[in-house]
Amino acid sequence: EQEQEMQVEQAPQQVDGQSVVDQLLHLATFSDDPNPAVTRILFTENDLKGRAYVKQLMKEAGLVIREDKMGNIYGTLPGSQAGAPAVATGSHCDAIPLAGVYDGTLGVIGGIAALKALKDAGFQPVKPVEVVMFTSEEPTRFGLSCSGSRAMAGVLDADYLDSRRDTNGTSYLDAATKAGYGAATYGEMLASARRTPADLAAFVELHIEQGPLLEKEGLQIGVVTAIAAPAALRVRFSGDGGHAGAHLMPLRNDASLAASEVALFVEKAVLATGAIDTVGTTGFWDVSPKAVNSVPREALLEIDIRDTDGPRRDSVVAAIREEAGRIAERRKVRHSVDAINQDPPATCGDNVVAAVQASVDELNLSSKRMVSRAYHDSLFMAQIAPTGMIFIPCRNGWSHRPDEFASPEDIGRGVEVLARTLARLAGG
Ligand code: GLV
Ligand code: MN
Ligand code: MN
Ligand code: MN
Repeated sequence: EQEQEMQVEQAPQQVDGQSVVDQLLHLATFSDDPNPAVTRILFTENDLKGRAYVKQLMKEAGLVIREDKMGNIYGTLPGSQAGAPAVATGSHCDAIPLAGVYDGTLGVIGGIAALKALKDAGFQPVKPVEVVMFTSEEPTRFGLSCSGSRAMAGVLDADYLDSRRDTNGTSYLDAATKAGYGAATYGEMLASARRTPADLAAFVELHIEQGPLLEKEGLQIGVVTAIAAPAALRVRFSGDGGHAGAHLMPLRNDASLAASEVALFVEKAVLATGAIDTVGTTGFWDVSPKAVNSVPREALLEIDIRDTDGPRRDSVVAAIREEAGRIAERRKVRHSVDAINQDPPATCGDNVVAAVQASVDELNLSSKRMVSRAYHDSLFMAQIAPTGMIFIPCRNGWSHRPDEFASPEDIGRGVEVLARTLARLAGG
């Protein structure tokens, strides 16, 4: 108790939110689309520029920098106790097409700012404190989310990762190698990222809420207690195609119509649970040959299904798989359904939640406990260490869009809560 009081004295009283915003806006200039939109895809030129900037900020903060072969970047404030497991924070800097400035980046740039604030306040942690920039939290390039944190948790299979090719057929290993990461084999690359409870004591991630609740309720901080279970399916149908004029209706097996039925069934199956927490989205469609005068021969769908209740989510996934089979049979098309991922939900660590709440209370901020409906690298860190998340409000709950916004004041408060939480967990 007394130790906790002491370290908090040394924690910074105020973090300058505007300086964090300036850095976020600078990072946003590394984008494939013009600002305010941000598009930053794994191992592209802009991603590499963003990584260089993150490492520059880590260096300026006086952190010890390390990178693993997957592309995860770590900045560490060493602890006084030799060999002690680290207390880590962090998030991602990749951005989906036409995203905004703050998703993920806040947890990296804000994480560096929190460690710098602790260092500048003369805080000397017992356990090392680390900020991580996770590699590709977003699934954009290889169709797989959280590749960096999955590798850290040891739940990413080498063959599976190799099977996730980008649209040019490039493999993760080749793309990583070209970017200056990578290894001779997938095994070696994955092993370099592996973390265990022996070297990780706790993890906490600062993120914008990506939902409207904090703003609507006029609250400053969300103390996250659980992360919903995400799953994604890839469904393919193939038919015989044909001439749009000459191929008569009774003879057709149109792949796109089978896909359309599946998309409508996704909505139906999700609503049938009767639970507001079940959500399903068919957000990716591809039809070929994409010609107005050709019957679609191939259709590819990617379907995102999530729930706070893992088994209930799984029952929706199973229903979609079965219905896809029935539709294929009825429409006489060939089909396949592959799980891209089907991850369990995460429950946050009591000690991390308590440390976040104590920091919030100490700063006299308003807060509520909440569930994260988006997934985060925290979902996988929770598999190896007690984990928590700190949410700040974002305008209208908007995220994954160019007009995403969080105020400098909320950002400053979020970083202060993070700094104090890390100090509590690291001891000092
Ligand atoms: C992460 O970006 C998610 O889709 O929840
Ligand atoms: Mn995102
Ligand atoms: Mn994010
Ligand atoms: Mn995300």
